[in-house]
Amino acid sequence: MVNMKISMIGGTGYVGLCSGLGFAIKGHHVICVGRSEEKVSKLKRGISPIYEPLVDEHLKKVLENKNFEATTDLEYAIRNSDVLFISVGTPSNADGSIDISDIESASVQIGKLVKTSNSYFVVVVKSTVVPETTEKVVIPAIEKHSGKKAGVDFGVCMNPEFLREGRALDDFLKPDRVVIGEYDKKSGDILEKLYKEFSAPILRTDMKTAEMIKYASNSFLATKISFTNEVGNICKILGIDAYKVMEGVGLDSRIGKQFLSAGVGWGGSCFPKDVAALRAKAKQIGYEPRILDVITETNDVQPLKLIEILKKKLTAIKSKQIAVLGLAFKADTDDVRETKAAIIVEKLLDEGATIQAYDPKAMENFKELFPKIGYSKSAAEAMQGSDACLILTDWDEFKALKDSDFDSMKSRIIIEGRRVLDRTKVNGLEGICW
Ligand code: UDX
Repeated sequence: MVNMKISMIGGTGYVGLCSGLGFAIKGHHVICVGRSEEKVSKLKRGISPIYEPLVDEHLKKVLENKNFEATTDLEYAIRNSDVLFISVGTPSNADGSIDISDIESASVQIGKLVKTSNSYFVVVVKSTVVPETTEKVVIPAIEKHSGKKAGVDFGVCMNPEFLREGRALDDFLKPDRVVIGEYDKKSGDILEKLYKEFSAPILRTDMKTAEMIKYASNSFLATKISFTNEVGNICKILGIDAYKVMEGVGLDSRIGKQFLSAGVGWGGSCFPKDVAALRAKAKQIGYEPRILDVITETNDVQPLKLIEILKKKLTAIKSKQIAVLGLAFKADTDDVRETKAAIIVEKLLDEGATIQAYDPKAMENFKELFPKIGYSKSAAEAMQGSDACLILTDWDEFKALKDSDFDSMKSRIIIEGRRVLDRTKVNGLEGICW
């Protein structure tokens, strides 16, 4: 195997760290560069600054093997790398478009730092960026500040990531595909070598196509879920089990089984941001993205359906105690970005309810959004004396709840936003769209 020297700029963040760690597991030498002294020092001690299964244990191994380093010194990283990944964040602006200021400043810094270097290197954009960003922002900034020429003195690729939170390392090590958007053949060849040990199809294309593949993939997955939720809402009125329906639909190999689980809607750090960015980009170039507009609107109103059901059962929400189980945007993460739990809690508070919340991992992060609601040490404690219970995240811990676990509630009103329990085994259970 060809061992390569890699640095990940933005290497203490989710994508940078998981990708860097993944390359180190595959035997490459990786330097993760971060701006935060605290996060870098944690990494050096083998402690992950993010919550993600398997990261801590692999971190310790690659540190022992001495093929993983963490630093705040970008110059050191660049001087010791053949391939420089840019994996900094691209958060949303107020209008949904992406903020590429960290991409711009990373490109400027790379340009300045490689000015005096004579060795060839490849810059790879891994951050999610709208089409044309690599070509029109990254390359010009590096060329301007280094005096060097892309395709001659340095190579450039765009290589999107498809990592899911909670299973990021597994997704990195066993990808469905690797997409390489290349400025020129030499750059693409070098990046392909880096992925040689991965048993996944490699799709080579140009940079803006690679950038678009990421947005189209996430928007399509979000569409699948919004579509499923719409089918679920119709099924509920008709008394049809939406999960059975989508099981039947998913058995069609042209459709596929995944991402057909109805529920409270899609959240997280990617789908909402990426759909919004693609809508903003489309509008900017004079195209009305009607499907993307509609899947966003349906996703925004989906959590309110749960409140509607609750209102019907409780008649008034005011002064009622509601147990909210699950605050993370999905299971196996402590991430609460764009979590539907926030919309629901906000609405319940507006209506005068008191909240007793519980999540196995996400309570600390949720406290930053809602410092004043009640937090419980367990699902059982949250349910104690509650007038209703809402299940919003598909944690395994909630799947294990039994009928008797709800006995301590004041009244048995249990509404699920994710299907985790069996309605035939738990009394008083109702699903958002089943
Ligand atoms: C997603 C993409 O899957 C990943 O490829 C990309 O790189 C980053 O964005 P992630 O945000 O970690 O990953 O979560 P994912 O597992 O895709 O779930 C996103 C949201 O959709 C969650 O809120 C989840 O609960 C919801 N979802 C997912 C459903 O409501 N139904 C489903 O069937 C699947």
